[in-house]
Amino acid sequence: MRATWLTDIHLNFMRPLALKAFYDRVKQEAPDVLLVTGDIGESDSVARFVDELRALAPIYYVLGNHDYYRSSLRAVRTTLPPGWLPGEGAVQLTERTVLLGVDGWGDARCGDLASTVQLSDWQLIEELTEVRYDRAERIGRLQVWGTTEAFVLGELLAAAPPSEHLLVLTHVPPFPEACIYDDVQSEPAWLPWFTCIATGEVLAEYARAWPQKQITVLCGQSHGIGCHNPLPNLEVRTGGWPAGIEGYGNPVVQATLDV
Ligand SMILES: [Fe+2]
Ligand SMILES: [Fe+2]
Repeated sequence: MRATWLTDIHLNFMRPLALKAFYDRVKQEAPDVLLVTGDIGESDSVARFVDELRALAPIYYVLGNHDYYRSSLRAVRTTLPPGWLPGEGAVQLTERTVLLGVDGWGDARCGDLASTVQLSDWQLIEELTEVRYDRAERIGRLQVWGTTEAFVLGELLAAAPPSEHLLVLTHVPPFPEACIYDDVQSEPAWLPWFTCIATGEVLAEYARAWPQKQITVLCGQSHGIGCHNPLPNLEVRTGGWPAGIEGYGNPVVQATLDV
């Protein structure tokens, strides 16, 4: 099965002709399935883009922070088209491979917590605006969100049917070493908001418990290309762009995997 991976495509930045050219580029991959690891559009466009991508091939996806912009997690998650992975449970993709996923969230558990980086998330996502100016409250809320994402991931893993290979989609890199920008690990000031330590803990624990199972994690968020192997059977691939190449308005096919 040809599984074409897209991430951080931010299609809301595309004009119609460029969008059509991108869809034609995806079609060239002859995908049997599309796997999308978030930041597809914004709250008012993400459902339309998911449906347009579905016209190219069946789609499974998780959402990124941008997909919630100008709305709330609560509202966006109640109106999503089919294919959002936490909602689909564990999917038997092929005889060998089971697919599952969660959005993940930067959970303020690594890097420089005194960071002065300001994210648009805190202005544009309803549940975060009220903690925008209160660092301690904001950090507390993000940590709860990370824990919640990890809990859902744990439930999905526990319910997954046996398989040789597990494919996990998530937007936020689950290890700081997988949080790549311009070919290197993101700066400490960005790591708290761009890494989900809680999902990483769940993945590592699962990989240790199932040493015979190969686990591949696909993620995005940091917009750089990388690959990190925290354990022999756990590989985390981060999608993005090479150093110096702008990601916004420049969607690309990350890879077509043979699963
Ligand atoms: Fe992004
Ligand atoms: Fe993102």
